[in-house]
Amino acid sequence: MLDALVAELDLEQKVRLLTGGTFWGTHAEPSVGLRSMLMSDGPSGVRGEHWDERDPSLNLPSASAMAATWDVAFAERYGAVLAAQARAKGVHAVLGPTINLHRSPLGGRHFECFSEDPLLSGALAVGFVRGVQRHGVAAVPKHFVANESETDRYTADVRADERTLREVYLAPFEMAVREGGAWAVMSAYNSVNGATMSENDLLRDPLSAEWGFAGPVVSDWTAVHSTEASALAGQDLVMPGPDGPWGAALVEAVRAGRVPEAVIDEKVRRILWLAAKVGALGEETVAPTTPPPDGGFAREAAAAGMVLVRNRDELPWPSAGPRSIAVIGQAAEVARTQGGGSARVVPLALVPPLQGLREALPATEIRYEGGAVITDGPLPLPLHTLTNPVTGEPGVRARFLDADGNEVAAEDRLSTDLLWFGGGPEPGGRSGSVGRDELAGRSGSVGRGKPAVTLELSTRYRPETTGRTHIGVASVGRSTVFVDDAVALEADLTDPDAILGAGLFAPPSTSAPVHLTADRPVLLRVVHDLTSRAGGRTSSVSLSFGLEVRADDEDAEIARAAEAARTAEVAVVVVGTTARVESEGVDRTSLALPGRQDELVRAVAAANPRTVVVVNAGAPVLMPWRDEVAAILLTWFPGQDFGHALADVLLGVAEPGGRLPTTWPADEADVPVLSTRPVDGALDYAEGVHVGHRGWLRAGREPAYPFGHGLGYTTWRFDDLVVPESVDAGGPLPVTVRVTNTGARTGRQVVQVYLSRPETEIDRPVRWLAGFAVVRAEAGETVEVNVEVGARALAHWDGAWRYEPGAFLVHAGASSTDLPLTGKVEAK
Ligand code: BGC
Repeated sequence: MLDALVAELDLEQKVRLLTGGTFWGTHAEPSVGLRSMLMSDGPSGVRGEHWDERDPSLNLPSASAMAATWDVAFAERYGAVLAAQARAKGVHAVLGPTINLHRSPLGGRHFECFSEDPLLSGALAVGFVRGVQRHGVAAVPKHFVANESETDRYTADVRADERTLREVYLAPFEMAVREGGAWAVMSAYNSVNGATMSENDLLRDPLSAEWGFAGPVVSDWTAVHSTEASALAGQDLVMPGPDGPWGAALVEAVRAGRVPEAVIDEKVRRILWLAAKVGALGEETVAPTTPPPDGGFAREAAAAGMVLVRNRDELPWPSAGPRSIAVIGQAAEVARTQGGGSARVVPLALVPPLQGLREALPATEIRYEGGAVITDGPLPLPLHTLTNPVTGEPGVRARFLDADGNEVAAEDRLSTDLLWFGGGPEPGGRSGSVGRDELAGRSGSVGRGKPAVTLELSTRYRPETTGRTHIGVASVGRSTVFVDDAVALEADLTDPDAILGAGLFAPPSTSAPVHLTADRPVLLRVVHDLTSRAGGRTSSVSLSFGLEVRADDEDAEIARAAEAARTAEVAVVVVGTTARVESEGVDRTSLALPGRQDELVRAVAAANPRTVVVVNAGAPVLMPWRDEVAAILLTWFPGQDFGHALADVLLGVAEPGGRLPTTWPADEADVPVLSTRPVDGALDYAEGVHVGHRGWLRAGREPAYPFGHGLGYTTWRFDDLVVPESVDAGGPLPVTVRVTNTGARTGRQVVQVYLSRPETEIDRPVRWLAGFAVVRAEAGETVEVNVEVGARALAHWDGAWRYEPGAFLVHAGASSTDLPLTGKVEAK
């Protein structure tokens, strides 16, 4: 049936379908009943077509938080919630999950990836994909393949041998495609073994040929640079559109016989196949989905991923809570619910820790002290302090002006942190993707058709305090900030990666001192020269302005925080990373917490033995004070309901059910693979299959907290590991364990099974994760747990999947280093 539709189209029509129609959408072809398909980031929420605070999205925990549940069924629920949001926003395909691995903890998109382990990543990807697709929305696992870091991300050439690719980096994609049944896959920016991924043979084999992938390979945004090489390689869809390297050039290449028309037909068939799956072909066949969710899942999910790594009888608190709490740390107020970059959504509502604790404990005396400043750059101004000078309503007027100063388009916005991602505003107020053409002066629909060259933002701002402060702007290019028509700041900021990287998502900033008086409004106007952006590109613009938080005397602030801790019953210090530190487009330069947060924790812990540290980071950070505090709770980027979930966990309403999906180092020097910096363009995955905990075990080094670790609120005993005496090559290995909850509370445990080979001809990991299962048990209860170890866990790649006969040891327990039970199985 699809072939018949393909046959109805001429070459131009077919090739047109192979490049996006817009920045986020595919082309429609009404003659065959094909509608445009809208794609959206994600993947911890669904942003929809516009990056716009007037159309917010449910902001779920980021991938590392979700992965900490180790729960495939949970990942499936998570996917279903995303699907509901996608359908509510008219989105056909969610650009995720991101299933690259945590190769180095410095990776800038670590928060957006699940785990350092291929099996855990792949299993969660399967759940995620199934959950999304069950509701007729496509999941698009990305970035295929070996996109583990951000440094030189468009050009880095990953060198990895076949076995490493198969066993480690391709493995999660294989599971997402074969078991999850993913309807589309996104190819990566980077190269692998000399060929950029949109031109790489891996797209055909194993992805399609071996794994039977039937959908389209969508490019990463702007990744495709060639016509023939990419078209011949198995790249199916070039994004974004409407321009790109295919179009007329590809039609010509087909006419000249350099690209067979059958290659084009196959791509079109794959796109039509996807369209049929998501209800964009012919009649709407997709079943109605569940209604858009409320925030309840966000709260549950945030708590489920929190990992308690240390607890000296401090948590949970009794249900009434402590009499008094000193809540310390800027992150308690300016919390990070998600990482930076394309994954960001505008949350529906955001509950920081301080607010969550105050709401949960109305009778507790809560004193807040910032202690150490971590934000770097201007913070958006609160909406209630802003008046749009045109409408008189709360907000900001944004105008795009042409070279004659005429208004090309205008919008009334509700934030001073704005981003037009692949589309400026539509004339008449509402933002839309058509604006991209208008801003570039390509469309006749706006009178003069001249391009916008200036973005002007204005608002009447009512300061809440009196005194000297710093007004700042963050954007690539030239901006001038006026306060009541006087120039307060002239900024000229550059960033080489301004197109879709850090320059857009975490732009450089600058500030200047101003004196403001409480309740005396000033007119703030920011004039930004769009032509000064890298390459003069105006289709994606980010600009944010506001006041910078600066500590005039940080010693005194830390001392004040310690004093607050000394006089309170307990202290909660929230520490974390910032938007600059964990974001797409850049790798981290250090694992240390930014600013003086380590000093702050130490000062507070010295003042109050009952200090709980809450770590708000999407990736591992160093915690040199970890033995000096009563408890440490890792929250990752927990999504919009952070504060409520945190209160639930501290009060024992919810258990911190998470287990580490990645190793947390004590020291940078110990990390087996740290650098993400290509050498002469190449990033050598020289460690081979020894990634993550496997690398730690091989090096014989002890991290702060091992892979799989997490305490929860009860204790456990593992007994009676049962494994068969022998297993057939290519057959599954059933494992059973009896697990007893030896504590006083109902709890949740993740039973982890690892394999090792005492004698082998192959360079194997010391041991490797082979299976896992989530178990719940009441106090005193014993549960028999079945863990199915898949055949693949016993295989290795040597030109094909092979099985080495001989004895495998089977280890079961609660983390990669806490494995009390060992059994033995003979592989035939
Ligand atoms: C990112 C992708 C994302 C795309 C669209 C790219 O820069 O690497 O993950 O889906 O942009 O925003």
